Amino acid sequence: MMIGKSTGIDYRTEILRLKKAMNAVILAHYYQESEIQDLADVIGDSLELSRKAASTDADVIVFAGVHFMAETAKILNPDKLVLLPDLAAGCSLAEGAPGPAFRAWREAHPGAVSITYINCSAEVKAASDIICTSSNAEKIIRQIPADQTILFAPDRNLGRYLSTKTGRSMVLWDGSCVVHETFSEAKIIELQLAHPDAEVIAHPECESAVLARASFIGSTSALLAHVQTSTAGRFIVATEPGIIHQMKKAAPQKEYIPAPPQANCSCNECPYMKLNTLEKLYLCMKNRTPEISMDEATRERALLPIQRMLAMS
Ligand code: 13P
Ligand code: SF4
Repeated sequence: MMIGKSTGIDYRTEILRLKKAMNAVILAHYYQESEIQDLADVIGDSLELSRKAASTDADVIVFAGVHFMAETAKILNPDKLVLLPDLAAGCSLAEGAPGPAFRAWREAHPGAVSITYINCSAEVKAASDIICTSSNAEKIIRQIPADQTILFAPDRNLGRYLSTKTGRSMVLWDGSCVVHETFSEAKIIELQLAHPDAEVIAHPECESAVLARASFIGSTSALLAHVQTSTAGRFIVATEPGIIHQMKKAAPQKEYIPAPPQANCSCNECPYMKLNTLEKLYLCMKNRTPEISMDEATRERALLPIQRMLAMS
């Protein structure tokens, strides 16, 4: 039982009761607290959660993730109530790409196609040609004619990684993830020396020096799938450690070491994702707020590049 210390409410029981009463679906990202992951209907990476949001027949979508993820669900489901436990659950990548600056950047590159990482605002999606996630970006880039200039925003690390992988030079927006930039290459090397059998696996939002140490690079779902099929028994995991909860469930006999941050801090945990708590999840369902909303013109423009992504991936 998950009883709130001050409230005496059994959040788990209440959330499951409200879910049924509201005909709601709870979608959770791998970086959520374990107790939230454990009561979600679907746990996934950004692409899987978008696909689920596009196909659900629930009346209410409760998004245990960050704002751009819930916003994507709303773009796909204008008539459904989309709830986010804490509206302040943002993303440094989305915040680093304001709509007006992004539109000016596009105007400075006439004729270029813009492929934009899903970690961005609805306003930026509305000004993009195609959205991508870390699971489908490579596949989408390979479908763009060779003579066309590609603008890639907002993650420069993911963009640089994709450029190397596909051999396509791209114009990169200068943004980054506060979590994935924090990993220390030096501390990862120390861990490798202490555990020579361990495999380093990393999310492509990490800096090049960290990616260079990794024997496998992929989205959160790809990393989760990899630990199950790899012959290694120990992993140094260079992404937000929330994913380790599912890794331990999927392959409990293996060992997972979170890649350490440069400073002595918990800054390898996403401060935005961790704003969502079981109590806030319960309250947003009970009060049917905070709700995601946006103007219809932005939503319609943002829908097209998301639909292109779904069709191309
Ligand atoms: P995934 O799509 O790989 O789950 O990534 C989402 C994210 O925000 C990574 O920081
Ligand atoms: Fe954004 Fe980074 Fe948090 Fe992912 S981990 S939601 S990219 S700040």
